Amino acid sequence: MTIDRSELRRVMGHFATGVTVITTRDVDGRPYGLTANALCSVSLEPPLLLVCVDKRAESHPAFGRSGVFAVNILGHGHEELSRRFAVSGGDKFAEISHRDGRTGAPVLDDVLGVVECRVVAAHDAGDHTIYLGEIEHLDATEGDPLLFFRGKYRKLSEP
Ligand SMILES: Cc1cc2nc3c(=O)[nH]c(=O)nc-3n(C[C@H](O)[C@H](O)[C@H](O)COP(=O)(O)O)c2cc1C
Repeated sequence: MTIDRSELRRVMGHFATGVTVITTRDVDGRPYGLTANALCSVSLEPPLLLVCVDKRAESHPAFGRSGVFAVNILGHGHEELSRRFAVSGGDKFAEISHRDGRTGAPVLDDVLGVVECRVVAAHDAGDHTIYLGEIEHLDATEGDPLLFFRGKYRKLSEP
């Protein structure tokens, strides 16, 4: 059966996710980042997490070269931040408050959570690369998440 790509996107859009900005710092020191929801907590022992990065993304080569990345988990007030990092190229970090994390990958200020990883494996996966990271540091704070469902940003609504 041939799978139509727009149908694949439509159906998988029914799988609600959180939203993150995954960041890295290239070997020349330049920060890179993109909005991402294709990620998964993989293992507790050792602590492993994976992210999937589109090979067409401008950030893609930097993830391969740097060997580190940070997952910045966005809160419900971060829709504009998510939109900014979902546009390809440019200096996305200008005027965005951030600092160097433990691995050197940029960490965004005031996000819901941060998971900092060192890449332990990279797997070719069609038009994406799966980067498997060993977690070196993590932190989270209270707050509601930004959600993504059927192509739209959503917020938690409690009954
Ligand atoms: C909610 C949302 C989730 C996304 N998830 C991913 C993802 O998991 N992996 C990915 O490579 N791109 C993902 N994207 C698309 C990238 O954010 C987008 O292609 C971005 O422009 C890439 O930036 P770059 O070309 O500057 O690296 C997502 C976009 C949105 C809006």
